[in-house]
Amino acid sequence: MGIRWPAVLLQIVVWSLFNGRYNASQLDVECLKSIKQSVKDPNGILKYSWNFENHSEGFICGFNGVDCWHIAENKVLSLRLSNFGLEGQFPPGLENCTSLTGLDLSNNRLNGPLPSDISKMIPFVTNIDLSYNNFTGEIPVSLSNCSYLNAINLQHNGFTGAVPWQLTSLGRLTNINVADNQLSGPIPAFKFSIGSANFANNPGLCGVPLQPCKGHGKKDKIGVVIGAAVAGVVVAILVVAVIVFVCLRRVSVKKKERDLPENKWVRNLKVLKGVKVSMFENSISKMKLSDLMAATDDFSKDNIIGTGRTGTSYKAKLPDGSFLAVRRLQNSQHSESQFEAEMATLGSVRNRNLVPLLGFCIAKKERLLVYKHMPKGNLYNLLHPTDGKLLDWSLRLRIAIGAAKGLAWLHHTCNPRILHRNVSSKCILLDYDYEPKISDFGLARLMNPVDTHLSTSVNGEFGDLGYVAPEYGRTLVATTKGDVYSFGVVLLELVTCERPTHVLNAPGSFKGSLVEWITYLSTNSLLQDAIDKSLIGKGYDSELLQVLKIAVSCVLSAPKERPTMFEVYQLLRAVGEKYHFSADNDLLVQVPSPEGDLDELIVATDGVKTDE
Ligand SMILES: *[C@@H]1O[C@H](CO)[C@@H](O)[C@H](O)[C@H]1NC(C)=O
Ligand SMILES: *[C@@H]1O[C@H](CO)[C@@H](O)[C@H](O)[C@H]1NC(C)=O
Ligand SMILES: *[C@@H]1O[C@H](CO)[C@@H](O)[C@H](O)[C@H]1NC(C)=O
Ligand SMILES: *[C@@H]1O[C@H](CO)[C@@H](O)[C@H](O)[C@H]1NC(C)=O
Repeated sequence: MGIRWPAVLLQIVVWSLFNGRYNASQLDVECLKSIKQSVKDPNGILKYSWNFENHSEGFICGFNGVDCWHIAENKVLSLRLSNFGLEGQFPPGLENCTSLTGLDLSNNRLNGPLPSDISKMIPFVTNIDLSYNNFTGEIPVSLSNCSYLNAINLQHNGFTGAVPWQLTSLGRLTNINVADNQLSGPIPAFKFSIGSANFANNPGLCGVPLQPCKGHGKKDKIGVVIGAAVAGVVVAILVVAVIVFVCLRRVSVKKKERDLPENKWVRNLKVLKGVKVSMFENSISKMKLSDLMAATDDFSKDNIIGTGRTGTSYKAKLPDGSFLAVRRLQNSQHSESQFEAEMATLGSVRNRNLVPLLGFCIAKKERLLVYKHMPKGNLYNLLHPTDGKLLDWSLRLRIAIGAAKGLAWLHHTCNPRILHRNVSSKCILLDYDYEPKISDFGLARLMNPVDTHLSTSVNGEFGDLGYVAPEYGRTLVATTKGDVYSFGVVLLELVTCERPTHVLNAPGSFKGSLVEWITYLSTNSLLQDAIDKSLIGKGYDSELLQVLKIAVSCVLSAPKERPTMFEVYQLLRAVGEKYHFSADNDLLVQVPSPEGDLDELIVATDGVKTDE
């Protein structure tokens, strides 16, 4: 339990800072007074022990069943009122015990429903024990907002309805007991294992760890839909039900939802295990589809390292201990021969700042691409870390320069030239020494033959939202300048540490994207305000501003006014000159291109390859 505490403590400290001025200890006294008043106390325990006459600080800490944070402070840590013989309803006065972390009301005769806003009343509880009472009604969904809960005990009450699936979102929960109630419906998929005794003696509960549910699952859903069509009477109700069902599934078990079709496709692959994986480099031993499946644990969701518009990537561990990344392409529409030709092109592309494509595999409709694995993950995750560790500026600049170089090479040196079309901080991967490598290049055109950037801008789920150049909304023409725009957004992320679609630092009234915010600041000469506060005043403010200005030029709304990728690289390199990043001297040559750059030559329906 030890490790579960600090976050609660911190929350409460923060909370107290806000509430402290409002005399928290007086509130806690109000809380206990209100509890005493609201419940019946036939045994007189509260009547005699909870004496509010004495007003010395910490006097409530001597009450039966009251634990304080500190013996001399009227601040309740937990309430242990088990077996007090209490009657009546769940005491609403609890909301004034604002620092409560434990609540034990077990073995009383409390009844009635739990308040639907219970999470607002006891937001910091880590343990709630209401067992052996006579509570009725549904288990409130809002319990799932008590995010510090470690254990929930509701055994032996009169609860009805289903166990809310939302409880599975409680990340700290390690135990739940709902035995001896009137519950029904499927047991949600908790992330920890629970014995069947914790669900026993309910008339209608089913699913792991009890008996499987009858009539739940896909086939039935279809059955229901067909039934509705035939009956035609309660269609509306059923449609609503189905929508709710689908929505619930979306939100709750997002992972699981992703799993279902995947499991199916993996199952379909089993018969094709012998299919060979074509490798571009002889240094890598020959592989079969079965090797990829074994290395990814049958494409288990635990091995997913990235999901994007073009597909899902899995980490693959080979028997020798080395790693690869396997990408499953999202519904590729190309024939095998077209696809093989594309692969031959992409497989020959080698640059220090690109993730090398090592091989591919065609198994019926599935297209699997094998890449070198990048151990430090993607730039997006590094910029928005969960552990709060921020990247320092010189590393950010090195990543910007390397990524610009990779893209410039694709646009200007590589033959045939390649448009990326999907540049984002998620496709900039980092090698073990944080050398940036662009991934996913050339994949966009392998997907739907009519590659709609519209779908990109509509579908924010893939995280590409916020990167799409404005002209893509009007035309479906992919251009180098579209990539420059997206790269400009990545530069903005590097300097501001904001997400492309949602600006935390902007005033609450601002609802626009990162680019819109920067444009606003820029036109009001407030550009400095955009810079990540953790970087300012450390001796490189002028570099920050220079990079910000390069970024701003990349996201200009008129494509012709944006610099080329080659120019972006040169500008960034000039900013980072004093750091001497690049040890290698691989020169980037700008191949002269026909008048008007590539923009007019490349159309979405046909694609990227342009021969000069
Ligand atoms: C009030 O409570 C404090 C602490 O419990 C105790 O020391 C003190 O004697 C009490 N005073 C009266 C008047 O009961
Ligand atoms: C909580 O305390 C406030 C302030 O004393 C009071 O107005 C309110 O009624 C209390 N809430 C409950 C549910 O007793
Ligand atoms: C619980 O409540 C039900 C209905 O409200 C009542 O019939 C039953 O006697 C109660 N049980 C106890 C132990 O109070
Ligand atoms: C949980 O908290 C969120 C954010 O505060 C709120 O939007 C949501 O309505 C709450 N859910 C319930 C069931 O109380």
